[in-house]
Amino acid sequence: MEQNVIVSLKDIVVEYDGEKVLDKLSLDIPDKGFVTFLGPSGCGKTTTLRVVGGFVEPKSGVVLFDGKDITDLPPYRRQVNTVFQKYALFPHLNVFENVAFGLRLKKLDEKEIRRRVLEMLEVVGLKGFERRAVTQMSGGQQQRVAIARGLVNQPRVLLLDEPLGALDLKLRKEMQLELKRLQREMNITFIYVTHDQEEALTMSDTVVVMNQGHVQQIGSPEDIYNEPENAFVADFIGASNILDGVMLADYRAEFSGREFVCVDKGFARNQPVQVVIRPEDIKVVPAGQGMLTGVVEDVIFKGVHFEMHVDCDGREWLIHSTQACRQGEAIGMDIGPDEIHIMARMEE
Ligand SMILES: Nc1ncnc2c1ncn2[C@@H]1O[C@H](COP(=O)(O)OP(=O)(O)OP(=O)(O)O)[C@@H](O)[C@H]1O
Ligand SMILES: [Mg+2]
Repeated sequence: MEQNVIVSLKDIVVEYDGEKVLDKLSLDIPDKGFVTFLGPSGCGKTTTLRVVGGFVEPKSGVVLFDGKDITDLPPYRRQVNTVFQKYALFPHLNVFENVAFGLRLKKLDEKEIRRRVLEMLEVVGLKGFERRAVTQMSGGQQQRVAIARGLVNQPRVLLLDEPLGALDLKLRKEMQLELKRLQREMNITFIYVTHDQEEALTMSDTVVVMNQGHVQQIGSPEDIYNEPENAFVADFIGASNILDGVMLADYRAEFSGREFVCVDKGFARNQPVQVVIRPEDIKVVPAGQGMLTGVVEDVIFKGVHFEMHVDCDGREWLIHSTQACRQGEAIGMDIGPDEIHIMARMEE
């Protein structure tokens, strides 16, 4: 996979009314990939995107594009286009003219405009819709027009700020696949903003997890899911069991009142840590035979697996298992060394 960096943010600080919204944020965006900014509302995703687009001027820090400093370059001179959540189509123009708008501003000749607009409408699956009024289209179709309008300018980077937020779940899923296909087909960089962890994991080559103006972790969806670097990421990415523990020595952790073998090392002796264990990584065994013993509080069938809340020494665990257990039943729980993820304990 291509690993060149197309956009680099270096120590970006953005303040609104004296309050730091981005606090020395640094980030490399790989070229020709699908990169997602993921984080809770207000963490600074849109602001970061707008710094890349040139709509927000950082108080300090540098934006590099292809290694060149573009911090002071206005938006229209950047090789970047944006698709906003509210598609901002022109209601009085038809589909063709909405897509052609930017090309007309650039004063391209009519034949070239026509060629590029029709090509782009075909790419987004709207061939034959040229003359349709945008007001007479579904949300999904309008979204495609907005995407075609962003892509027709042949940007090297397309910024998408929660572009599917207004769509219903089914259409949203369809458009997710569609966007992924488009990104591959156009072979350009997409930077996508969402607060939906599942969407981020499904669509992205690289996920940037953000919280309170800081990058928490950057990695592939697998890395982020399987090897969260801190409890915020683990918690935000998916339901997990997060417990306080202590690292007794290399490869030896204590939590839930007993000692476990793990694969982590390099912590100080007796360092307080947080332990993350995925619900699907806990093996249910007969009571008395497991490393831990718990009592099933409730069982919900989820289609493929059973989701159970299990009380273990007064603490509630979440377990996903293909094995059905009964409410009130005592069960054993086994956890392999690979399934135990150790992280330094976060400051409160
Ligand atoms: N124009 C502005 N003036 C003042 N404060 C702002 C402005 N824009 C954003 N903020 C604040 O900056 C912080 C980050 O906002 P931002 O829009 O980047 O968050 P976000 O991660 O995109 O959130 P959401 O998921 O809700 O869209 C928030 O606390 C927000 O209130
Ligand atoms: Mg936002």
